Amino acid sequence: MKPIQVGVMGLGTVGSGVFNVLQRNQQEIKGRAGRGIEVTMVSRRNTALAQEIVGDHAQVVAEARDIIRNPDIDIVVELIGGYTLAKELVLEAIAAGKHVVTANKALLAVHGTEIFAAASAKGVMVAFEAAVAGGIPIIKALREGLTANRIQWIAGIINGTTNFILSEMRDKGLDFDVVLKEAQRLGYAEADPTFDIEGVDAAHKVTLVSAIAFGIPVQFDKAYVEGITKLGAADIKYAEQLGYRIKLLGITKRTAAGIELRVHPTLVPAKRLIANVEGAMNAVMAHGDAVGTTLYYGKGAGSEPTASAVIADLVDITRLHTADAAQRVPHLAFQPDAISNTPVLAMSDVVTSYYLRLRVADEAGVLAKVTGLLAEAGISIDAVLQREADEISGEAATQTDVIILTHDCVEAKMNAALAQMQALPTVLQPITRIRKEELA
Ligand code: HSE
Repeated sequence: MKPIQVGVMGLGTVGSGVFNVLQRNQQEIKGRAGRGIEVTMVSRRNTALAQEIVGDHAQVVAEARDIIRNPDIDIVVELIGGYTLAKELVLEAIAAGKHVVTANKALLAVHGTEIFAAASAKGVMVAFEAAVAGGIPIIKALREGLTANRIQWIAGIINGTTNFILSEMRDKGLDFDVVLKEAQRLGYAEADPTFDIEGVDAAHKVTLVSAIAFGIPVQFDKAYVEGITKLGAADIKYAEQLGYRIKLLGITKRTAAGIELRVHPTLVPAKRLIANVEGAMNAVMAHGDAVGTTLYYGKGAGSEPTASAVIADLVDITRLHTADAAQRVPHLAFQPDAISNTPVLAMSDVVTSYYLRLRVADEAGVLAKVTGLLAEAGISIDAVLQREADEISGEAATQTDVIILTHDCVEAKMNAALAQMQALPTVLQPITRIRKEELA
């Protein structure tokens, strides 16, 4: 049978990986897919560079739309990124009857509802394994492997840049700004790292995961997003002393009141496997009622790891493109008429436990006042750590850090208690609040 023909829009690092892995493993991939898969057309503004990558194996064009217009192309791979042009091209490709594979989490987290509806109406597939956790097949695992389960929660390290920065901060005892500069110098962080360090990239990914896990529409605008820019080396050190590591987690949970959808720095018990995921690696935990807790680990970015996910989608589409649309795996795991309107909870309604660090005057009665306010709010304390004043470098012995771990409470209650504690004259700096998850 004639190989299926693929056009790659935006032949960069990932596109080159797709091209190279397809060439290198073509016999195995053909054996699995049932027919060959060939990249026959690629687009890139710098056509000379693209030509160097593909040689005479594929036609190179500067204009991505030329790929969509080519009637011989069966599947379009969108690797351009961003919201605007990528959205236009994906919708045009769907309208032209092409299947689409994309690594663009931002596009799908924000415009997924429109894109999936257009694809369903046209009877084509939009596949996006590469959009979440790079080479880890987490979409496949959730949508197919765990399909028997009522998923209860998912928590993942789904941004390699921030995990690299946090690992370096812990290993070297350095503050965020210093490590970020080093990460940029080494190429681990981008020149504009905003989406990574502010948690936006992780929020795009957990939004997609949440939709698949719970059968709700993609709703990036409902996600709570907090990055790692305010974390200090001191908090990482204190967390360690209490038996925890700090990770930027994407978390989504099913509760009786609705779905939690949030990204924030999180204390995780050091004994959990996920707490020991270091450097730029990714890991996702998923808990289902039947299977219990599962863990997926691997490279979340990079040329060939991401290509591995893109090609898995190309193989799926190759196997299924002649099948009746109703026999395909639904975009969001649930059939469109089974998508639910379960609400995504506001952060103030989320229930979790907390790490608090207060820089206080080292005077009699200060700790009693702070714990008294927590008691009045009905917030139960799990552990308290008070540093000796002389352990605080550069400070006079009149100040100390008090670290408090709490049991679970609703965030609104914690916000109110924090405001009261902050107003105490003996609390000398803004209180640090980091959420904690046991992931048991
Ligand atoms: N910038 C992302 C990360 C990779 O650092 O994990 C692509 O989503």
